[in-house]
Amino acid sequence: MSSVTVRVPAKVNVQLSVGPLREDGYHDLVNVFHAVSIFDDVVARKSDSITVAVTGEWTDQVPVDDTNLAIQAARALAKHADVGYGADLVIHKSIPVAGGMAGGSADAAAALVACNELWGLGLPIDPLMRIAADLGSDVPFLLMGGTALGTGRGELLTELPTTGAFHWTFATADGGLSTPSVYAECDRLRAAAPSTGGAGTSGAGFSVGGFFSAEPDPGLLAALRAGDPHALGRHLSNDLQPAALSLRPGLAATLEAGRRLGALGALVSGSGPTCAFLAEDAAHAARLAQALPGRAPIRSTITAHGPTPGTTVL
Ligand code: C5P
Repeated sequence: MSSVTVRVPAKVNVQLSVGPLREDGYHDLVNVFHAVSIFDDVVARKSDSITVAVTGEWTDQVPVDDTNLAIQAARALAKHADVGYGADLVIHKSIPVAGGMAGGSADAAAALVACNELWGLGLPIDPLMRIAADLGSDVPFLLMGGTALGTGRGELLTELPTTGAFHWTFATADGGLSTPSVYAECDRLRAAAPSTGGAGTSGAGFSVGGFFSAEPDPGLLAALRAGDPHALGRHLSNDLQPAALSLRPGLAATLEAGRRLGALGALVSGSGPTCAFLAEDAAHAARLAQALPGRAPIRSTITAHGPTPGTTVL
């Protein structure tokens, strides 16, 4: 096979409960991932070395050196399979960069699947999932797609049942946010205000003593199962949101604009700065996408639906 094309979705977290900082630098999570129809396509062609190039809207913001997670993924796969093959990877980028939608992790997942196919390795999903988890906490979910509960640092996955499609509008921002900085800000806010209990900066299930007892929200799980966007809108939650708003105060106006326009729910996507708005249906999502610019300091709007499949060979 001389060329393989793979498609990978973005994600939004419909619940992101964050525990205390662990000794390994990560946080325990109760993370309900939802794959949405904003896609990066990765084309892999046989080569002597492993290289990456990027096309599309966000091209100038993606590194093409060894820090690119797709290159790291291809190298990790070659090492695991003990082969010396190369691949030229071209990423056609639509997922916002450093936007809280796991774009880098998505490209890593796509590179794993593309190179597995290109090199004829035939590795099944289990070893790919293990390599994925070493590359980043979100990478296993991008392989899997759908809607899933992620525990541990987000890499231990259980598929969640859903009905029908949920419709979203995403508002991207100029300039990304660094995920480690947002987690660090979350820790800082909690240390500065340890008495806020279950609300605000501390988050449900978090105790400053280091005990993390968060559970997936039963109302959220029921809404997903029933395909009820109104109920899902009421149960969206993200413990990283206060930290993202602290680092990027302008996002508060974006969220407020979406609420005023009738979004069923509004939250920062993951570590931000992309904001996610849940709509009643596709037409409502389109109206939100059209009305948001001008009412808030945003870069662009994107409509999408979820859940979508994970990484797929086209
Ligand atoms: O796993 P990944 O490399 O994508 O994580 C990026 C950063 O996000 C980590 O270095 C860490 O600072 C933060 N993180 C965390 N707890 C998690 C996942 C990520 O603190 N569960």
